[in-house]
Amino acid sequence: MTTPTLRGRDLISAADLSADEITRLFALATELKAEYRAERRHANPPLERKTLAMLFQKPSLRTRVTFEAGMTQLGGHAIYLTESVVLGGRETVGDVARNLEGFVDAIMARTGPHEVVVELAARASIPVINGLTIREHPCQALADLFTVYEHFGDLRGVVLSFVGDGNNVYHSLALMGATLGMEVRLAHPVGYGPNERIVARAREIAAQAGGRLVFTGDPREAVEGAHVIYTDAWTSMGQEAEAEERRDAFARYQVNADLVTISPEAVVMHCLPAHRGEEITSDVMDGPRSVIFDQSENRLHAQKALLVELLAR
Ligand code: CP
Ligand code: NVA
Repeated sequence: MTTPTLRGRDLISAADLSADEITRLFALATELKAEYRAERRHANPPLERKTLAMLFQKPSLRTRVTFEAGMTQLGGHAIYLTESVVLGGRETVGDVARNLEGFVDAIMARTGPHEVVVELAARASIPVINGLTIREHPCQALADLFTVYEHFGDLRGVVLSFVGDGNNVYHSLALMGATLGMEVRLAHPVGYGPNERIVARAREIAAQAGGRLVFTGDPREAVEGAHVIYTDAWTSMGQEAEAEERRDAFARYQVNADLVTISPEAVVMHCLPAHRGEEITSDVMDGPRSVIFDQSENRLHAQKALLVELLAR
């Protein structure tokens, strides 16, 4: 196993990692994945006696289970805490951070507002990992681009076309994709574009790394020549009141058999949970070009690499 370089750091934004650091994480994820798949265990679990506190203000299947199972597989332990226990107004975010840093080795938090995870990281002396905020989902981007790396190798020049909402998942893919020199495209309806400050930051990163950001209103134009066609739910957690309005606005942005025909070599990705028949059809999701469930499995391997780099001695 390689020597950790991220020890003690936080992962709040996908822009927190350099291209070298991401590449190292991919290499370590590859090793951990191969060993775990072959043996269903690690011969020398690197996180013995380490504990991760996991704070959830929103529901989760993948993030919760992959972090918790990941800690177990690495020889450590994870504790699941819901909103009613922490971050729910019972005590301040700063007090939660000051308690937890005395009890555990790292915190993973899924919050609503991005500022909460930023504050946790500022107040806690131990690593804090963003497990999704309204603004970003960096662990998703790490696992997704690890999946793309498994398919295409070097990511420079690889075209990822995101069709749908300029949301948290898009933001993190744009930042990390730019860092790796990718071309990240977004096709979105008017009024559902990304955060302009994140786009400005991604553009700065892309200019240095040789990446590119492209925007269009036309999903067909966006997927032309793409290596990856990516979509996510039209309504993110917390936006449920807008669901009907969003279904209308995004109707033209469905990833279906007709759309994916435009780029016959592209793989299809979705961070899940999916709304079959809305942003993606079942034939595409379950079809031969879908890597959606590989992507989901890679949450486990990519995050285990991250945990080892943050916490192992
Ligand atoms: N993709 C993802 O983060 O899934 P969960 O919401 O189930 O954690
Ligand atoms: N954009 C989605 C991602 C879920 C993993 C949401 O925030 O609900």
